[in-house]
Amino acid sequence: MIRYVSTGLPTVAAAVLMALPAVAQDSFLGQQEFVERCSVCHGAEGKGDGIVGELFAQKPKNLRVLASENSGVFPFAAVYESIDGQRDVAAHGGDSQMPVWGDYLIAEALERRNIDPKDAQLIVEARILALVQYIQSLQVN
Ligand code: HEC
Repeated sequence: MIRYVSTGLPTVAAAVLMALPAVAQDSFLGQQEFVERCSVCHGAEGKGDGIVGELFAQKPKNLRVLASENSGVFPFAAVYESIDGQRDVAAHGGDSQMPVWGDYLIAEALERRNIDPKDAQLIVEARILALVQYIQSLQVN
């Protein structure tokens, strides 16, 4: 356990973190996952214009307008749940073209790395959180 006692370091670290642009702080993992797994349908910038998505009758959502469609508030929990697959949005049902990422990522974590299922769950939560934060950083007014 790290104990923050009597050194000036935590304050310095906090100041450095606050000085970083918000997007740079939360984006790298999320951006990487997004480009790898989501951009084929949602487009590199999340506009819903990915090459594969073009083929679907139901166009993938423009993920940059989620906040503006929700009175300017980014619907963090709802986005998390729709990626994880807990929330049954129309696009995620039996006839969905939007994969259920929670199950897929869990399976991948368990298969590729020899880790405990509980740790796999935590890894998946972190990855989904990173994705949601990245999508949040893409919001336009
Ligand atoms: C195979 C194509 C495809 C891929 C890949 C894909 N999506 Fe989607 N996604 C869709 C479609 C189709 C919709 C439904 C559009 C709608 O509901 O308006 C959708 C909807 C969504 C929504 C909105 C759900 C809601 O609340 O209405 C979110 C958020 C989302 N996708 C995130 C992601 C993320 C993050 C990834 C990558 C991990 C991803 N998608 C990968 C096709 C895809």
